[in-house]
Amino acid sequence: MPRTSRHREDEPLIFARRTTSPSRAHAARLIGLGSYLPPRTVSNADLASRLDTTDEWIRTRIGIAERRIADPATATSDLAAEAGLRAMKSAEVGHVDAVILATATPDHHVPGTAPTVAHRLGLRQVPAFDLGAGCSGFVYATTVAAGLIHGGTAGTVLVIGAEKMSAVIDTTDRSTAPIFGDGAGAVVLTAGHANEPGTLGPSVWGSDGEHANAIRIPDGGSRRPSNPAGGVDDRYVRMNGNEVFRHAVRRITQVTQESVAAAGWSLQDIDRLIVHQANARISAAVANTLAIPVERVPSNITHVGNTSAASIPLLLSHSALDGRLQAGQRVVVTSFGAGFTWAATTLLWPMGLHAR
Ligand code: COA
Repeated sequence: MPRTSRHREDEPLIFARRTTSPSRAHAARLIGLGSYLPPRTVSNADLASRLDTTDEWIRTRIGIAERRIADPATATSDLAAEAGLRAMKSAEVGHVDAVILATATPDHHVPGTAPTVAHRLGLRQVPAFDLGAGCSGFVYATTVAAGLIHGGTAGTVLVIGAEKMSAVIDTTDRSTAPIFGDGAGAVVLTAGHANEPGTLGPSVWGSDGEHANAIRIPDGGSRRPSNPAGGVDDRYVRMNGNEVFRHAVRRITQVTQESVAAAGWSLQDIDRLIVHQANARISAAVANTLAIPVERVPSNITHVGNTSAASIPLLLSHSALDGRLQAGQRVVVTSFGAGFTWAATTLLWPMGLHAR
């Protein structure tokens, strides 16, 4: 057999990470930030009235008190369009060159949801596509947007993270129902210069499909269009919480360190660590391992839960609105999700950014 490759088939291919470095001329700069939450709040007490759980267990084990749940008539595109509009207002732009929607809960399998959102925003004929990377989807999408800007393919990109997680959560499953919530957040990125405030630093991102089953929706995809046993299709998120917890702490810690190093910073330089809101204990474990004081790690999980791809832009938006993010701060944005996937980037928080 000819030896054309050093890779053996029984040996997993390991792609630990990819790093992109924006050029001086065309780095992606944050100029707009917006978010939207559906109005209905579901408290832990509401959940405990129909599920074998308690307010105390959810607060202490996850850090959540309540989450927002969209009404049945609302789809992910509705949440995304509202957040996108707010981000464009925040950026004071009426047009963008591309729309990327990070989501695990598209309106339909086909077509993608991003063109619907672009249409709703009056952005007819701009390229628009969905990106699926679980809870890391938003940071993945900003990485792709930065690449488009870096290459000169797009000057300004609207990046949205939006989820109607309630559409894929089994309300009788106590290992997922308390965790997830609905919402959307968005940013506008435009061409800027590296090292300018607001400019995204190098992105560090990766995946490990060995753990694909740790968070998944079993049926409805091409692997299992329907339940092979002939029973009811399982179209809900199923999760091995312990496995996810362990890997989330490890990967978020690692990707944060790598991203800080890629930016030429040290961990002590971090003014704000924006961590995907999966579980308050995950964020605390990461902060503890990296010796980052907890007051530098903003959180909104208590009131919104885990909103998957919407989590990071929602937290950025809420932190900017309540003053926890201020101009000149060194910010690290870091995430982990189904796949597994992980991603992180850095930026100096810009002046004059008004979140909407
Ligand atoms: N209410 C009350 N008790 C519950 C419960 C609930 N909702 N869910 C589990 N329990 C019980 C278990 O049955 C178990 O009881 P036992 O000790 O009598 O057997 C006990 O609580 C501990 O269960 P365990 O699964 O070990 O809890 P945990 O501390 O690992 O917390 C998660 C479970 C799901 C909250 C946690 O693993 C987690 O957050 N994982 C990461 C999930 C995540 O972030 N997903 C998204 C990633 S992007």
